[in-house]
Amino acid sequence: ETDGALREAAALVREVPDFPEPGVLFRDIGPMLASGPALGAVVSALGRSAEFDVVAGVEARGFLVGAAVAQAFGTGVIGLRKPGKLPAVADRIDYALEYGTAALELPADTLRAGQRVLVVDDVLATGGTLGAACSLVRQSGAEVAAAAVVLELTALRGRRNLPGEPVEALLQV
Ligand code: PRP
Repeated sequence: ETDGALREAAALVREVPDFPEPGVLFRDIGPMLASGPALGAVVSALGRSAEFDVVAGVEARGFLVGAAVAQAFGTGVIGLRKPGKLPAVADRIDYALEYGTAALELPADTLRAGQRVLVVDDVLATGGTLGAACSLVRQSGAEVAAAAVVLELTALRGRRNLPGEPVEALLQV
């Protein structure tokens, strides 16, 4: 039942050749999130990844999925944001990309020490983003209950960059 619903959801992932650059096959989960039954299947599967007190969604598509999971499971949601967006920052973590660096910021007065956090994002690629999100959560004294993504791009071996992290992926390509 769940597997069937997730399989149907997976069929809605659009493949976009040569985005964002030539030779890259982009997996677009937009059409999947746009379907009520597919979103429902994704949300319930993600929420079953772990016991948690609050959801932390990663900018930007992690916000869509994370907020839906939080509402469905009766918790609040926190947005881990790219730099320069937040009026009050509790903490920041910089991380390396293939070319250059990126950062995520934790909004002030959101996470409390000891809370069990479900970190949610749409896609696991190289793992840099999810790793930074988990570190940001732990630096605040909270606990990562699971790092749950809708789609894992296994060829990029992101899990190698996330040793010991409780990574849960609904779909793998
Ligand atoms: C994408 C995706 C993840 C991240 C995964 O976000 O939504 O957050 O990349 O890549 P990684 O595993 O190699 O770190 P993107 O940077 O495209 O930002 P957006 O969601 O704001 O479009």
